[in-house]
Amino acid sequence: MKEIILPNAHFSYRDGSLYCEEVSLVELANRYGTPLYVYSKASLLEAFGRFQVALGNYPHIICYAVKANSNIALLQLLARCDCGFDVVSGGELLRVHKAGGDMNKVTFSGVGKTEEEMRLALSLGIRSFNIESKPEMKRLARVAASLRMVAPISIRINPDVDAHTHPYISTGLKQNKFGVDPATAISLYREASQAPWLNPVGIDCHIGSQLTDPAPYYESCDKVLNLLDLLRVDGIELSHIDFGGGIGVRYRDEQTIDLNELVDTLHQKLRARGYENLEMIFEPGRSLIAAAGALLTRIQYIKHTPNKSFLIADASMAEMIRPALYEAWMPILPVEIHEDLPEHVYDIVGPVCESSDWLGKQRALRVKNDDLLVMTMAGAYGMSMASRYNSRLLSAEILVDGFQTHMIRSRDRYENLWENESLLSKIDEPDS
Ligand code: LLP
Repeated sequence: MKEIILPNAHFSYRDGSLYCEEVSLVELANRYGTPLYVYSKASLLEAFGRFQVALGNYPHIICYAVKANSNIALLQLLARCDCGFDVVSGGELLRVHKAGGDMNKVTFSGVGKTEEEMRLALSLGIRSFNIESKPEMKRLARVAASLRMVAPISIRINPDVDAHTHPYISTGLKQNKFGVDPATAISLYREASQAPWLNPVGIDCHIGSQLTDPAPYYESCDKVLNLLDLLRVDGIELSHIDFGGGIGVRYRDEQTIDLNELVDTLHQKLRARGYENLEMIFEPGRSLIAAAGALLTRIQYIKHTPNKSFLIADASMAEMIRPALYEAWMPILPVEIHEDLPEHVYDIVGPVCESSDWLGKQRALRVKNDDLLVMTMAGAYGMSMASRYNSRLLSAEILVDGFQTHMIRSRDRYENLWENESLLSKIDEPDS
C-alpha cells in the first residue's frame, strides 16, 4: 500500500476508515451531509501551543489572522487561550468581539479601512492600527479627533523583500499595494509623533503567506531595524514590532520553518541592536488552522472520457478555491481504504460550471461511486473564502473534541440564497 500522509495524529485510520480525533468521518458525513468542513479542536490548540512555546518568555502577542478561518467558535477557542487577533475588516473585528476576544490584543491591518471601520475599532479600543498609506493615516487622525480619542498606530513597512511564494500571496515587494517604503515611513512617523490624536506605538511588516524559508523574515527584520535606528535618532521610541504572519505549512512536500529557530533568530537580531524590550507580535493564520481542518466530500459520478477520468465530487471551488485560484496542491485521500479496488488516475472536480473548478489533478486513487473523499490541510482559506457561486449552499462546519461533536455552523438553507434580495413590486416602481 502507498504511504498515506496525514496532517497530524488527530487524523488517523482505524481499520481502514478515517477518524478525526475519536469520531468517524463516515459517521459525520452520514449525520451532517456533505460537503462538510470538520475541525479538530486538539489540532488547533496544539498549533497555538507550539507558537506559545516558541515565543516562551519573550514579550509577545500572537494575533491570529482571522481571514484564515473566521468561524466564531474557532475564534472563541483561541480567545480562551488569551490569543490576540489580526483583523482586516469591520466584519472580522465584530466576529472577534462576538467570540469574546480581548480588544486590547487586536491589530487592524489592510489597505482600505473605511471611516466606519476606524470608528468601530477606536470605540472598541483595539491595540493598534497597521497603517498602510499616508491618506489612511490622515483619515484616521481625522476620525480619532472627531471622537476625541487617541489612535494607536503602527506603520506597515514594505521592505521590498521577495518572500519566494506564489505571486498572489506575496505582499512585501515594492510593486505590491501593501505597506509604505522606508523613506515614507520615516516621514509618517515624524508626522504622527506630532499629531495630537495619533500615537505611534509599533512598526509592522508582513511580506507574504506560505513562506517555507525563514531567510526573507530575517532580511525584512534587518530592514525594519535600520528604520528603528533612524527613528531613535528622531527620539521616536516604539513598544512593539509586528512580523506579520506567513509561516508555511506542509501540503505536499514543502519544507517548513522551524518556529523556535525563527523566533530565537529574530530576537537575537533585536537584542544585537538594543531592541530586546520590544514586544514581538506575530499574525499567524494558516500555520494555526490549516492542519486542523478537513473538507469531506462524496463522489457523485465517476466519468471516463477518452482522455481522462474524472471524479465528480459534491465539493467544488465554491467550498475550496485554493486550487482554482493559486493552482494549489491540496492532499485528497479516501475516507475508507479499499485495497481490493483497482487504482486509477483521476482529476477530482466539482459541479461548478467553470473548467477551473478542480480540487486535485492526476491523483491515483482506489475508489468507487458514492465513496467519501477528504481534503486534509483545508482549515485555512477554505471556508473563509467560500462563496455561493452557482447558488450553492454554504457548508456546515463541525468541531470535533475527542468523542464530542459541535455543529459550529449549520448548512445554508435554500431561503438563505435570496434572503437579502427583493422581487420587484407588481408595477415595477423604482424606490425613488
Ligand atoms: N497578516 C496579514 C497582514 C496578512 O495579510 C495575512 C495574510 C496574514 C497576517 C496571515 O498570513 P498566514 O499566516 O495565514 O500566511 N488565500 C491565500 C492566503 C492569503 C493570505 C493573505 N494575507 C491562500 O489560500 O493561500
